[in-house]
Amino acid sequence: MLNNNEVEEILISEEEIKEKIKILGKKITEDYQGKDLVFVGVLRGAVIFMADLARSISIPMIFDFIAISSYGAATESSGVVRILKDLDETIEGKDVLVVEDIIDTGLTLDYLLRILKSRKPASIKVCTFLNKKARRRVKIKIDYFGFDIPNKFVVGYGLDYEGKFRNTPYVFTLNPKIFKNELK
Ligand code: IMP
Ligand code: MG
Repeated sequence: MLNNNEVEEILISEEEIKEKIKILGKKITEDYQGKDLVFVGVLRGAVIFMADLARSISIPMIFDFIAISSYGAATESSGVVRILKDLDETIEGKDVLVVEDIIDTGLTLDYLLRILKSRKPASIKVCTFLNKKARRRVKIKIDYFGFDIPNKFVVGYGLDYEGKFRNTPYVFTLNPKIFKNELK
C-alpha cells in the first residue's frame, strides 16, 4: 500500500490490531451492561480506532466527537490545549468512555478529562489505542489500552505525521528521511 521507502519498521501489524480490538470490545461490552455508554472520540487521530472498536461492541451506545488542538510543535505536546469542536450532546449522567489514539506525555488527556468531568457524567473512563509510557508527565488512569509502545514517533491506524499516514492499517515508524523532506 505504501511506498516502502516510507516505512522504517512495522511495530504493530493489522492482524495484531484486529485481535486486540476483539478483546477490548468484549471487555467493554461486559463492563458497560445496563449503562448509558457514550464514546467520546478525540478527533482526528482516534477515528480509525473508534470505528473498529465500536463495531466490536454489542450493547447500545452512541458516539460523539471533540476536537482539540495543542499549541506544541508537530511532534511535541505542549499541554496547552484549545477546543476546536465541542461535543454535540450533553454528557451529564452518561457513562463516558474517552477514546484516544495515543497517550504520550498525558498532558492533552489530563486537560480534556478535567473539562469533561466538570460536566458531571455518571462515570468517565479512558480507552487509548497506544500507550507511550516513557514520556508520561502527569499521572493518568488508563482503563483500557491496545498496546504499550516504546518511546518512538509512530504513524498509521489514525496516527499522523503532518496529517498523513492515518489511513495505513498498521502502526509503523517513519523512515527518518521523511522528517528531512528528502523523500517528498
Ligand atoms: P500527549 O499530550 O503528549 O499525551 O500527546 C497526545 C497527542 O500527541 C496524541 O493525541 C497525538 O496527536 C500526538 N502524538 C503523540 N505521540 C505521537 C506519535 O508517536 N505519533 C503521532 N502522534 C503522536
Ligand atoms: Mg491526538
